[in-house]
Amino acid sequence: MRLVLLGPPGSGKGTQAARLKDYLGVPHISTGDLLRAEVAAGTPLGLQAREVMARGDLVSDEILLGMLKDRFSRDDTRPGFILDGYPRNLAQAAALGELLASLGQKFDAAVQLAVDNEKIIERLAGRAKAEGRADDSPESVRHRLNVYDQQTAPVIAFYREQGQLSVVDGVGSLDEVFGRILEAIGR
Ligand code: AP5
Ligand code: MG
Repeated sequence: MRLVLLGPPGSGKGTQAARLKDYLGVPHISTGDLLRAEVAAGTPLGLQAREVMARGDLVSDEILLGMLKDRFSRDDTRPGFILDGYPRNLAQAAALGELLASLGQKFDAAVQLAVDNEKIIERLAGRAKAEGRADDSPESVRHRLNVYDQQTAPVIAFYREQGQLSVVDGVGSLDEVFGRILEAIGR
């Protein structure tokens, strides 16, 4: 199964991808996690990305595509993957299509987790207290939601037009949302 998980910040992409990974037996590729690992390790890429991420802007398409190519060059992605956090704009959607085509692959489903902004703000305020993620401050969350509306919503519209999009209600218990995703992907 090759799955692209879409949805606004705090919609539960990472939470559900962790479960889907075990259920489907394919790797979870989170571009946010990959970037946070670079930041934590203090690599040149991490140093470049740190401030951009903290304020909630998108890191450059070039850096993202390099990271993604690198990750997809590993054999564990052959049987499938759950992609979380990519693509986030139309240029990235095109780049993903080209990358997969170059590997003789295409994704099976794009699933969008739908959660309203009020709920998102509540969830991320909770995570800010629990984990202290640099971009969970109220200002950064507001900015991330704007970036999502302006840059990522067109990706959703594009996949919808292509008939590749399933929308799943992301509000409910973790089990409920998980069940809805499985239903959407026919598992
Ligand atoms: P990224 O790490 O992708 O962050 P995000 O999209 O903003 O999403 P989050 O990780 O905050 O939320 P999530 O949907 O994974 O939800 P989660 O499961 O954690 O990106 C971070 C930054 O990296 C970007 O801003 C950008 O700078 C950069 N970046 C990454 N990818 C990029 C790209 N492609 N291009 C350019 N830049 C890129 O859940 C959130 C919270 O809610 C948790 O506390 C969780 O416990 C809780 N929760 C989950 N499900 C439920 C539920 N059903 N009910 C109640 N609470 C729930
Ligand atoms: Mg996440």
